[in-house]
Amino acid sequence: MSDKTFYITTPIYYPSGKFHIGTAYTTVLADTIKKYKKLRGYDSRLLTGLDEHGQKIEEVAKKQGKTPQEYVDEMADYAKKIWKTMEIDYDDFIRTTEERHTKIVEEIFDRLMNNGDIYKGEYEGWYCTPCETFFTETQLVDGKCPDCGRDVHKMKEEAYFFNMKKYTDSLIKFYEENPHFIEPESRRNELFNNFIKPGLEDLCVTRTSFDWGVKVRKDPKHVVYVWLDALVNYITALGYLSDNDTLFKKYWPANLQIVGKDIIRFHGIYWPIFLMALDLPLPEKIYAHGFIMMKDGKMSKSKGNVVYPDMLINRYGLDATRYFLLREFAFGQDAVFSPEGFVERFNFDLCNDLGNLLNRTIGMVNKYFGGTIPKYNGCVNEADSKLEKETIDYIKKYEEYMDNYHINSALEEAWKAISITNKYIDETMPWALAKDEKRDELISVMYHLVENLRKFAIMLKPAIEDTSNKILKQLGIENDELISYNSIYKYDILQENTKVIEKGEPLFVRLDANVEIEYIRNEMKKTGV
Ligand code: ME8
Ligand code: MG
Repeated sequence: MSDKTFYITTPIYYPSGKFHIGTAYTTVLADTIKKYKKLRGYDSRLLTGLDEHGQKIEEVAKKQGKTPQEYVDEMADYAKKIWKTMEIDYDDFIRTTEERHTKIVEEIFDRLMNNGDIYKGEYEGWYCTPCETFFTETQLVDGKCPDCGRDVHKMKEEAYFFNMKKYTDSLIKFYEENPHFIEPESRRNELFNNFIKPGLEDLCVTRTSFDWGVKVRKDPKHVVYVWLDALVNYITALGYLSDNDTLFKKYWPANLQIVGKDIIRFHGIYWPIFLMALDLPLPEKIYAHGFIMMKDGKMSKSKGNVVYPDMLINRYGLDATRYFLLREFAFGQDAVFSPEGFVERFNFDLCNDLGNLLNRTIGMVNKYFGGTIPKYNGCVNEADSKLEKETIDYIKKYEEYMDNYHINSALEEAWKAISITNKYIDETMPWALAKDEKRDELISVMYHLVENLRKFAIMLKPAIEDTSNKILKQLGIENDELISYNSIYKYDILQENTKVIEKGEPLFVRLDANVEIEYIRNEMKKTGV
């Protein structure tokens, strides 16, 4: 294993219902970055899991006539199953009800008490149950929850507080010294200017209003508030403060923590402060992605506009679903899901651009060279050298975007390279070269087509691995070196006597747009309650 490590995390999701494509989006994004880093030689580790405590979970379980533990156990099985279906290559799955987590939460709480970071006081505020968040009077919008718009109720209780004020200056300093700590920059500025600089309120870190959570050791009628419990998952999963902290020593601080914009405040303010209080290094970067919206606003069962990943996967396959999520939504920005957009990406990008390129190439190598890929004979035409140069430029851009976690832009560059390769066929007209018996030129065109497809297979591997493998298999390319990233810029390394498959199999079968748009719409309607 490499000694360059890369530790990436997703939020731990509330198991309060089935996961929709929003949750899948975060997870696929993190998975793709993990796989890319692995491809680039990093010892790359991905953590995901579930946030299983809190009032909301307690209530959902009760409604279903289950104990909270029974309920979250079932949901953990569900979550693992869906991530398996989506080929999420996580290295660890943390559940906040596991002893390896709860024990350390107790320990962390004690330490913070002993340090004087946590003190006992009284809390009065407006509480939003679905969001599990207290708000001050001024934070409410028209008397309702500023996050979800639902009713809030007044609550007063004895509680423990975390002294955020003590750390405000250190956090400001950290933000100034690490201008790229939070991305995108717009979110960073919003947090910094609107929340941090004006000064922080102390945070209430316990509740007595519910039971389902980690109890404070020395005062067990208090339950540790979900956010303190939840955030430390990123380190308890590595064995922080446990008998075996090898992983913690190896992987902390995280290189990248991906969250949705809804929880950037918790990750950009409270999380770094908790870490400072524990005297631990802060993560290198926290990336807040935007939200997948629907035409009529947020996804919700009451609107009947929810899209579940399994619906898309069952009908269109995993790679089409992964590709769509990764490509359609620009990092950091909100975007609207539409059935039309999905079908378009499928038909244009996957069928026409990529699928047809493979099919045409395999057809021609069979027709003109009996299926054997000819030997590289340099650049015979100007078109060949132009193709090589432009492809390499696109790969460089792809790489730069991948290194900065802009997956959608990286895929866009890959597709630009695919597109010029399709144009190269139209420009060089291999059928005319064959007719005129321009053998050297024909060899060069066939070689370049196969070689570019090899490069695309490598570029697409982190995002859509099955498709990448299918491309390589149909081209007859199996040698490890030829499928490693190190060889991506090389043009002259395909072995002699490589044989492509005799009859190409379509990677994606074109969809009837009207039928499928209708299908997706109907499936969305079925999610209504
Ligand atoms: O917040 N578009 O869990 P959660 C894109 N347990 N992403 C979306 C989305 C959408 N429409 N809806 C949800 C929690 N997400 C806490 C986290 S971490 C220590 C604790 C994704 O189940 C996005 O990543 O409400 C968001 O941040 C996350 O789901 C919230 O998941
Ligand atoms: Mg939420």
